Amino acid sequence: MVSHEPNSPTPYRLRSLASGGALSRLALIGLAVLAVVACFAYVGGWLSPHRLTQAEIIDTFEEVSGVHSGFRRNHAKGVCITGYFESNGEGARLSKAAVFRPGRVPVIGRLSLAGGEPYMADGPAAIRSMALAFRPPDGEEWRMAMIDIPVFPVKDPESFWEQLLASRPDPKTGKPDPAKMKDFVSHHPETARALEIVKANPFSSGFANASYNALDAFRFVSAAGASTPVRWSMAAVEPFEPETPAQSATQDKNYLFDAVAARIGQGPLQWRLAVTVGQPGDPTDDATLQWPSTREQVDVGTLTINHIEGEAPGNCRDVNFDPLVLPSGIEPSDDPLLSARSATYSTSFTRRAGEKKEPSAVQIPAGQIPAGGKGV
Ligand code: HEM
Repeated sequence: MVSHEPNSPTPYRLRSLASGGALSRLALIGLAVLAVVACFAYVGGWLSPHRLTQAEIIDTFEEVSGVHSGFRRNHAKGVCITGYFESNGEGARLSKAAVFRPGRVPVIGRLSLAGGEPYMADGPAAIRSMALAFRPPDGEEWRMAMIDIPVFPVKDPESFWEQLLASRPDPKTGKPDPAKMKDFVSHHPETARALEIVKANPFSSGFANASYNALDAFRFVSAAGASTPVRWSMAAVEPFEPETPAQSATQDKNYLFDAVAARIGQGPLQWRLAVTVGQPGDPTDDATLQWPSTREQVDVGTLTINHIEGEAPGNCRDVNFDPLVLPSGIEPSDDPLLSARSATYSTSFTRRAGEKKEPSAVQIPAGQIPAGGKGV
């Protein structure tokens, strides 16, 4: 029972609660609670109703490409790969991450084409992509998602979204309105410059001889605590050849995927992991800009892919290659695309994880899958 007596032995003294000191303590507690609520409201976007959210970006992907049950909202067409990364130890001076100690680390990954349509036909201008998860025994995964163009066409999530809006199909024609994209580019000189660089670099003839770029800058942190801005690429060991018109003239809508499956059937494919070391003043917050070609490049090891298979339960189909899943020793830069990617991939993953799965366009015939080639 609550006592009203000043000398009551119970701990509840209402009069003392009404005293000046107690009131200001209560006010402080109230303020602390309000601050926590405000933080949640801010993170949830309630304080800034016009702030772009990951759900809006994914909704727009769905407007552009439709909803394809169970598939990624971008890079929807893909296959799963596995193999290993063999570190040569050269990365250890820049980063304390365990993957850079000399030795092998198992890797799983995915080859895909940019775009939200899982049954799209392979084509000469389709951006080839490679996503990887390095899985060292200490459990500190390193995930990355890279593409084979030299710069990204936009520098922040808002421009990415505007570009998506501009590529929505016109309800009258069912096709994107080229005038809208032209208008977007005319208001984004950084995109116009980036597209010039992209156009100057032809696409490779396949997944096997494409080099894949992380594009966003990151920071490597050494054992001594030194933080270095970096960008990295998986540079193909197979010699580069441009795609020819004869390739896409084929009836095979999966000609790029079928070719890489056949190639891995004959033997492993390799890429060198090339880390570009940034200098003070190199932009780390703008993936539309290249760093000078004179920057030091460190070859830190070799990726070997010796197995390929169609998307299926439990393989790369069910992984979110979030570029912010990083081991200790690799940190994000101030590039605004990174947190937007992480948030958007998560929303795409959550939606597709809860949907009924349809078979993927690319199935690898059992006879073509290299026997015993799984993992290390
Ligand atoms: C704000 C910018 C970006 C947005 C909103 C975005 C959005 C997405 C989404 C929604 C997915 C599907 C994720 C999933 O369901 O697992 C995806 C996949 C992917 N993205 Fe991005 N992306 C962005 C920038 C980039 C950049 C800069 C790169 C490359 C440097 C990139 C490369 C990839 C790749 C390779 C995949 C396929 C990953 C896989 O195979 O699972 N994206 N992106």
